[in-house]
Amino acid sequence: MDRKLVIAIDGPAGAGKSTTAKELALDLNYRYIDTGAMYRAITLLALENDISMEDEDGLTRLAEEAEISFTPLTRDGNTVYLNKRDVTDAIRTSLVNNNVSFVAKVAGVRHALVSKQREMAQNGGVIMDGRDIGTVVLPEADLKIFLTASLKTRTQRRLDELQDKGEVVEYDTIKDNLETRDSIDSCRDVAPLKKANDAIGIDTTGMTIKEVVTRIIQLMQGV
Ligand code: DC
Repeated sequence: MDRKLVIAIDGPAGAGKSTTAKELALDLNYRYIDTGAMYRAITLLALENDISMEDEDGLTRLAEEAEISFTPLTRDGNTVYLNKRDVTDAIRTSLVNNNVSFVAKVAGVRHALVSKQREMAQNGGVIMDGRDIGTVVLPEADLKIFLTASLKTRTQRRLDELQDKGEVVEYDTIKDNLETRDSIDSCRDVAPLKKANDAIGIDTTGMTIKEVVTRIIQLMQGV
């Protein structure tokens, strides 16, 4: 395919968005933009600076002033920089997991991050994942995918991910966190987690990442 597309991938936590998006980006030599990492970075900054999760103005100011960037993706992953500091691991802790939905509910935070995300996508050749990419951030994306998976599958994927990082967490704790986050993300007033009308849904329960990637490449060929 000659033309470099803009691809939006949305869905709940643990549906396989980031693993799929990274594989696709590496296969196609596209840039990968993880918008969840941006909400996580602001959450980390708020926790470090004792800004309350209810202080909407304080959180908005952090988001407006923060400089967030990603290094190009390689097979070893990529690095997330927040104000020139490597926060790749620091944004993946349970503490950040438990607070990020509160930060992502704030309209001012979303406004600031959405404009950074649009800037990052403007040259095409981009795969962006999140919750509102197809509905709000990139409504003109060439292809919109909405990934889902059963709660059991999503919980097991998150458990494996945290265990790989050496965190000791109970299955039920992760399941509760995912359910709570899904409900906050889906019920919030601003840009709730929702499938865009023109998005293509893929249920990844029981599918391997390779199968999901192959399916999306097939869909790209039809664009
Ligand atoms: O994809 P993730 O688990 O890293 O996302 C972290 C949180 O950020 C998640 O609870 C929802 C929120 N988020 C969002 O509201 N909008 C996005 N575009 C991406 C993530």
